[in-house]
Formats: sequence, C-alpha cells, structure tokens
Amino acid sequence: MATGNFKVKDISLAKQGKMKIEWAESRMPVLAALRAKYKITKPFKGYKLAGCLHVTKETAVLIRTFIDAGAQVSWSGCNPLSTQDDVAAALAAEGVSIYAWHGMNTKEFYWCIDRTLDFKPQLTLDDGADLIFTVHNKYENLIPEIIGGTEETTTGVHRLRKMAEKGALKYPVFAVNDMITKWDFDNVYGTGQSTLDGILRATSVLLAGKNFVVAGYGHCGSGVANRAKGMGANTVAAEVKPTAALKATLEGHKVMKMDDAAKIGDIFVTATGVKDVIVGRHFNSMKEGAIICNTGHYDCEINLGELEKITKSKRTIRPNCEEYTLKNGRKIYILAQGRLVNLSAAEGHPSEVMDMSFANQLNAQLALVKMHKTGKKYSLGVHKLPDEMDQEIAGVKLTTMGLKIDKLTKEQITYNDDFTAGT
Ligand code: ADE
Repeated sequence: MATGNFKVKDISLAKQGKMKIEWAESRMPVLAALRAKYKITKPFKGYKLAGCLHVTKETAVLIRTFIDAGAQVSWSGCNPLSTQDDVAAALAAEGVSIYAWHGMNTKEFYWCIDRTLDFKPQLTLDDGADLIFTVHNKYENLIPEIIGGTEETTTGVHRLRKMAEKGALKYPVFAVNDMITKWDFDNVYGTGQSTLDGILRATSVLLAGKNFVVAGYGHCGSGVANRAKGMGANTVAAEVKPTAALKATLEGHKVMKMDDAAKIGDIFVTATGVKDVIVGRHFNSMKEGAIICNTGHYDCEINLGELEKITKSKRTIRPNCEEYTLKNGRKIYILAQGRLVNLSAAEGHPSEVMDMSFANQLNAQLALVKMHKTGKKYSLGVHKLPDEMDQEIAGVKLTTMGLKIDKLTKEQITYNDDFTAGT
C-alpha cells in the first residue's frame, strides 16, 4: 500500500516512465522471484518504510516489490541530479508517496527527505546515509519506533561506522554494500560501465588512445579503470593506499601522483569518497580540453570552489558538460557539476546488476522485520547479513542466466574439514 502524496517534476511523463520500469523489470529476475514469493506472504504488512535512494527505473522495481510485499512506502532521491523524472512520475501516478525531481537544490533535497518522514516510518533505507542522518539530527522523536535501517553504498557505510564508533548511531543498520553480491558486482561492473556511459553521453568523445586518469583504485575505481582500458584508453591510477596502488600497477595501469597525472590526463574520474582530490593547482596544470568528472557519492571530490577562482568565463556547451575558460587561457570541461556522472549524465548501473544489490536490500529489510516480529531488535551498530544469503542470491542469479555449477562431493567435504590431511 502506498500513502499517495507526491511532488515530482511533471506527472504527464508517467507513461514513458512506466515503460522504462517495465524494461528494468524484465532484466531483474532475482528481485522478481522474491517479489512473486512475498506478494503472497506479505511479510511487510503493517510496516512503514522510508527510502532515500536514486529514483531510477531499477529503484522503481524495488519500490514496487516492497509495496507488493505489504509495505507502506515513502521515497525521496539521494542526489539532486539523479532522479529520472519520468520514473518519478510513473511511481506518483501509481499512488506511491514520492518526493523527487531532477535538478533540485539542497534545501529542496532535505525538504523531500523531511516529507518521507511525515508518516513516521519504522524502517529506513539509505544510499549515502542522509536519511538516517536527518532522523538523528532533526527527528530524534522518531527513533524509539524505528526498528532499523539499511545502507546501500560504501560512503554511507563509512559514515555510519564513524557514527557508531562515536556512539552516535541510535538504531541498527545493515550494510548492504558489504555483501559480496553487492560490492563485487555493483561497485565493479555497475560503476565501471555506468561511469563510462555517463562520460560518453555527456561528451561523445573517443576513449581509445586517451590518457584516462582514475583517482581511487577501490572496487569502483578499478571497475572504471579496467573498462576504460578495455576500450583502448591509456589508464592511470592515482592512489593514497600502497596496496591499492600496487594492485593497480599489477593490473596494467600506470600509477602516479595526481600532481603528475593532472599534466597528462585527457579524462579524469574521481572515485575516492574523500574531498579535494582535484583542486585548483591541478586544474591550472591540465591540458587544453581536459574532461573531469566524479563517480563518488558526494560532490566534494572535485573542488569547484577553487576552480571558480581561476576561471575567466564558463558556459554549458552540451547537456551535463560545462566549459570553463581558465585565466591561463585553457579550456577544461566539468561533467554533471561534479556530481555522480553515472546517474546524472546516464541512467546509473544497468538493471542486471541492480537486481542483486536490491535483492540484498530486500533481504536486509526483511531481516529487520523478522527480528521485530520475534519481539527483539538487532543490537546498535552496523551489521552484515550472513554469507549464505550472498550464496543464495548468486545461485538464483546464475540459474536465471542459464548457468549450472558443480557441487562438492561428500569426500571433498570431508577432505575440506580434515586438517590432518597434508602432503
Ligand atoms: N546506483 C547506481 N546505479 C543505480 C541505479 N540504476 N538505480 C539505483 N541506484 C543506483
């Protein structure tokens, strides 16, 4: 059941959005299997869930799944530029309480989050932890009724762990990001492909032969760098962590400091989760025509304030592509205002990969509800679902892909358990 209040850009886009959602639905078989099951058993009946996560066609499939499973849902986007207005319109037309539109400002962003809390949810679902943070900061009165929350992304989990360390986290949260079927797939292949998709839609440039600099060689950054390499780019990784830098060099990328990479790069992508990765002195040393974008959750990685100070003039030369003419005479290009390029200039990760990420979201929310039904609560802190749940999701995914794998024989299991067996 949905509660039916909404604010979206243009409700007349609903028909187009509905078709987009159908397209995603046809490519999310794991979530479809869970939806078919829970449509009958309705495990979320009587529970209210507030979500703050990119409003995309894939998210719409997740929202429909929660509603079919009996939940009352209220939703906002988790980034000012990532909402797909046609999808938001389709959800609003179906009666979903949704507050999201593309291009909102920061005040509107938090207004939307506030509205999703009006119905006093017992469950929260985040991508970046802005909803949880708002609850803790502004709506502490809601906390006693909140059973728990779930968090989708690396940056959000990091933020929550810091909150937990300082004793500031007041309800239990599942780190969906930490599931293997999330971060080994969504972060690597999802971010890898959708980031290139965003760059190409915004610029239409050839990647082959370009010096392609990726800052941060974690799951997301390595996904981007390896896909760019596959398309013929000369890839460079900039890192602060020795092990990650070592991995990058052994995987065939050049490793350099950003100060050096800035001078040779044609395309720059930040994927670090920290601020000030590309700052004024880097912009000043860049080549004519350099393209810069971010695929980390927050827009703090590229310091646009410092860029403004060394800029003579600017104009929007293409959608999601801002041309800055610097005081040094060179022109450089910032994509999607330094916000998530994959969701702002493209459609985010492909449905096939979100299928597993969102199956984990559903399982994690269900774990909270199941515990609540026993009269208990998870302890305060950041939790992870058991490994078997990962294997189950991966197993279903493989089956839907028509793939079969082997099983250990009894003898192999015995061998595995026997520590005395050696040479
Ligand atoms: N994060 C990255 N890609 C996404 C998508 N397609 N939908 C929702 N969240 C996302």
